[in-house]
Amino acid sequence: MEESVPIRSVLQGESEGRKVLVRGWLQNKRSSGGIIFSLLRDGTGVIQCTLRKENVPTELFSRMLTVRVESTVELTGSAAVDQRAPGGWEVRVDSGRVLSEAMEDFPIAKKFHGPDFLLDNRHLFVRSDKLRSMLRVRSVLLATARAWFDSHAFTEVQVPTLTSAAVEGGATLFEVKYFDEKAYLTQSWQLYAEALISSIGSIYTIAPSYRAERSRTRRHLTEYTHLEAEAPWCDLEGIMKVEEQLLTRIIESIHASCRSELEVLGRNPEELEKFKGPFPRVTYTEALKMLGDNPGITWGDDLGYEQEKVLTARFDKPFFVTHYPRKAKAFYHKPDPKNPDVTLSVDLLAPEEWGEITGGGQRIEDYEELLARIKEQGLDPKSYSWYMDLRKFGTVPHSGFGLGVERVIAWLCKLDHVRDAIAFPRLINRVYP
Ligand code: 4AD
Ligand code: MG
Repeated sequence: MEESVPIRSVLQGESEGRKVLVRGWLQNKRSSGGIIFSLLRDGTGVIQCTLRKENVPTELFSRMLTVRVESTVELTGSAAVDQRAPGGWEVRVDSGRVLSEAMEDFPIAKKFHGPDFLLDNRHLFVRSDKLRSMLRVRSVLLATARAWFDSHAFTEVQVPTLTSAAVEGGATLFEVKYFDEKAYLTQSWQLYAEALISSIGSIYTIAPSYRAERSRTRRHLTEYTHLEAEAPWCDLEGIMKVEEQLLTRIIESIHASCRSELEVLGRNPEELEKFKGPFPRVTYTEALKMLGDNPGITWGDDLGYEQEKVLTARFDKPFFVTHYPRKAKAFYHKPDPKNPDVTLSVDLLAPEEWGEITGGGQRIEDYEELLARIKEQGLDPKSYSWYMDLRKFGTVPHSGFGLGVERVIAWLCKLDHVRDAIAFPRLINRVYP
């Protein structure tokens, strides 16, 4: 195959005046008189390719007049500045060919389509400017997170997604038939992570987690991308520093390298500046007071979306809520030695009505204390026997957290729903396509 140039490089002015061959999908076209303006997309960018009747073979011109959008084509011409073209550059075509003609009219047009239609056609809708921009931001987020962890002596590790016990409570567990046994899709890597820190120290993962969430909200997927970290010799304060530095680095990086993507998604890139750390901190008890006389919950209940939404109006950047009551949090959270009614737990809440984007804290390192908490929560100690073993052999203070990648993307890109922060969302009523 003849070598083509990436459209992005033409848009960056690297081919000025030179003859280039570009190859991609015909995103759109219009013609007037003897000219066809076509928009070609190759995954690196979208460029205007202009065909003038007098400059191209007659056969190519008439083929390009009738060919449907989303056909693939290959065009050769000279790269030139054109202020009227999107991106400021165009290819003035002199030859080319249609590679694969679309068999039908593309079902997604410029007109308005309802969300269900777009979800049914997700395999085609992923070609849209919005989803393509989101995918780029996602990739920058994950690459930046990996780079940050790698340069702070965290090692990347994978653990099974098929598991035998709940991490975050039985209510949202997906059950799987595992030959003659029952297994579950993982809600979090955490229990395995706590085993691995005694092997290779501070660690992180980026992996799918599953929640059989019955709630239809803008914040819930049934399968989401979970970025988790765990560190030995680390207390609540230490893990909050990790979260703060990591998220600030992610925000800086997206701000610096995804300006046009953010603009396509309707987020002014400059707004990201104000989201950087340090992040304010409040305790759960203080947060409850901030909610006024009718918080909708009583002390001891977990904060729900309604409460979080009200709190986010008080901050213009992410903020930590710490020291949740022991009954509001999973069994592994360490009760505060200074006040055992609360735990050394922390959630990070994003502004603009997003709410929780991370959850974590310090874990119980003592064997007897862990056993008591497992019983207190009505869980079967037998299901956690290997996990309890970890406290028998050189136990240390340790902490970790999990970050919902789609929630962070949805917030930073100003999306209405987490389903548009992942290519193929899994929702309560959707596993197709
Ligand atoms: O708060 P969660 O349940 O915490 C844990 O799973 C801990 N074991 C993590 C750890 O300490 N290693 O989940 C962590 C984050 C939430 O803050 C949220 O951002 C995201 O995962 N999350 C979801 N994202 C999309 N859809 C869902 N259904 C989610 N459930 C949780
Ligand atoms: Mg949580």
